[in-house]
Amino acid sequence: MRQPNFNPNGQHGRNVYVGEPTGNRRDVLMRLMRLVMKHYKFSFIVVAICIIVTAFTTLASTLFTRTLIDDYIVPLTQVATPDYGPLASILFKLVLILLLGVACSYLHSLLMINVTQGTMLRLRNDMFHHMQKLPISYFDTHSHGEVMSTYTNDVDTLRQMINQSLPQALNSLITITITLLSMVALSLPLTFVSLFMALVMAFATTWLGKRSRRHFKTQQQRLADVNGYIEEMMTGQKVVKVFCHEKQAIGQFEHINEELRQSTYQANRIANIVMPVNGNLGHLSYVLIGVVGATLILSGHVDLSLGTLVAFLTLNKSFARPIANVSQQINSVLNASVGAERVFRILDEKTETDNGNVTLVNAMEAPDGTLVPVPLRTGLWAWRVPTDSRPKFVKVDGGVQLDMVDFGYTPDKQVLFDIMINAMPDQKIAFVGGTGAGKTTITNLINRFYDIQDGTITIDGINVNDISKPHLRRSLGMVLQETHLFTGSVLDNIRYGRLDATDQDCIEAAKLVNADGFIRRLSDGYRTILSGDGGNLSQGERQLLAIARAAVADPPILILDEATSSIDTHTERLVQKGMDSLMKGRTTFVIAHRLSTVRNADCIIVLEHGRIIESGTHEDLLSIRGKYFQLYTGHDI
Ligand SMILES: Nc1ncnc2c1ncn2[C@@H]1O[C@H](COP(=O)(O)OP(=O)(O)OP(=O)(O)O)[C@@H](O)[C@H]1O
Ligand SMILES: [Mg+2]
Repeated sequence: MRQPNFNPNGQHGRNVYVGEPTGNRRDVLMRLMRLVMKHYKFSFIVVAICIIVTAFTTLASTLFTRTLIDDYIVPLTQVATPDYGPLASILFKLVLILLLGVACSYLHSLLMINVTQGTMLRLRNDMFHHMQKLPISYFDTHSHGEVMSTYTNDVDTLRQMINQSLPQALNSLITITITLLSMVALSLPLTFVSLFMALVMAFATTWLGKRSRRHFKTQQQRLADVNGYIEEMMTGQKVVKVFCHEKQAIGQFEHINEELRQSTYQANRIANIVMPVNGNLGHLSYVLIGVVGATLILSGHVDLSLGTLVAFLTLNKSFARPIANVSQQINSVLNASVGAERVFRILDEKTETDNGNVTLVNAMEAPDGTLVPVPLRTGLWAWRVPTDSRPKFVKVDGGVQLDMVDFGYTPDKQVLFDIMINAMPDQKIAFVGGTGAGKTTITNLINRFYDIQDGTITIDGINVNDISKPHLRRSLGMVLQETHLFTGSVLDNIRYGRLDATDQDCIEAAKLVNADGFIRRLSDGYRTILSGDGGNLSQGERQLLAIARAAVADPPILILDEATSSIDTHTERLVQKGMDSLMKGRTTFVIAHRLSTVRNADCIIVLEHGRIIESGTHEDLLSIRGKYFQLYTGHDI
């Protein structure tokens, strides 16, 4: 076996199953049960009744053996002309009882499918709902594979538990109780023999279960590793090919795949002994009871009929099976609690805090010059600021101020230092600076993807912390550094900027940013379906669509991060023209590596290692012959 130097745990998310805290398993399970019960209490009651009825019909059919033999079959052998009528009628009753059992089992499984799938549906919905409210920092620290695996593997362990283990455990408990009572009623000495053997079986199952559970956890972990690796290799397929890493990729995959096989083998090796061991112990128990029972009958000391012994032997079987079952079900419930814990961990993850109560509203100017809110789009926006008396309406001009802003993604590394920016309404502010200087980070703070540690950020004089996040983000149109397109038509992708935009609005927006030309040349024009994050478009075309999306949103403030970096110079000039008309009447922040696109900015801010080192117009900055001059001319100072 190849052993490449590879540590799957390190590369593909945390070690998810091994070493997780297990102390609160009972709490986790109780919480899961409360969740199930909340919506399916009635179904569960019916299922419990069905299980009880099924258990009783099984018991009744077993006890029938005694009556059948002692009261119907044995007497038949003792008369010359046997009457089979009573036998037929008792057999008919038996069939009816068995049919009732079958009907109850069927109803029970139908209801359980409904309960299980319904619970899964709710959990997945709740998780997705919650995920949409998580802060961006959550996704910085959790791998896709890890989150995906909670949606699939972990939710599946719950499915198994709710659907199989819980009803089976209930069934086993009921069967054990009523069987034990019937056995005591039939014969006390034989019950002792049966109990002794059941204890031996329970002990064997628990002992083996403990050993297999350890391997089961490893197996789940390895499964997550294999999934994570496949996901990573699929997204990185081009890089793998560019660097001819196919062989290494296959080698690493074979390695973790082999580890999965080994852990699965180990888990099953032990788990698979449980059944044969119990089966044979069951046979031994059968033989022991047979021998003891026969001895008791033959010795004549105890009042034991042949029918009773036969019935007892059958009861003994239905007693031993659930005993082994219960310990197995307990193991599986414990395993599922690990999955439940991870599901709940996502659900309990702290969502974005949003204490803002200032909202964005469409407004109209009243004859007296004051602003009044209106339900329709007017192109005029206002901030609705609640006050003790009547709400105040502040016109959205789009002035943005950053005052002594400090920020770090993690407490141990500060990324931005004392950032001061004063963007007046309708101004175009450009950020330039080397890679990692902090340009994207500043824009991430204005829209509150992250919260700042020190300083203040205001829009139209209102602290962004006071503005409700969805409203703040609605006031900002962003073209992100990485464009993301969704599966759907070109038109739908542009409409993502504003869901109530008409087709005509979308086409106008595309025309404005000069994306119309290339869209019309696509096979289906605006109705062309994009798939796999717009994989069938060029990088520049994807950026044009992203810009059109921001254009259709028609926001008072625009943030364009490297928006034109992948566009050729000819198209860039076209887009530039379009963007200039788009920027008209809006405050715009532009991040661009091509300095030609930022020349006409009202203020160019030069960043280095998270600090503003120069700012001013193109001419100002060239005249001081500093960093900007160096970047622009390519000359060292
Ligand atoms: N999500 C994150 N978590 C932790 N650190 C981050 C994160 N994103 C960026 N950083 C760090 O913050 C610093 C500034 O990054 P930023 O993305 O703002 O740079 P940039 O100026 O936009 O660079 P580029 O021109 O390459 O886009 C870098 O040192 C980067 O490593
Ligand atoms: Mg950047």
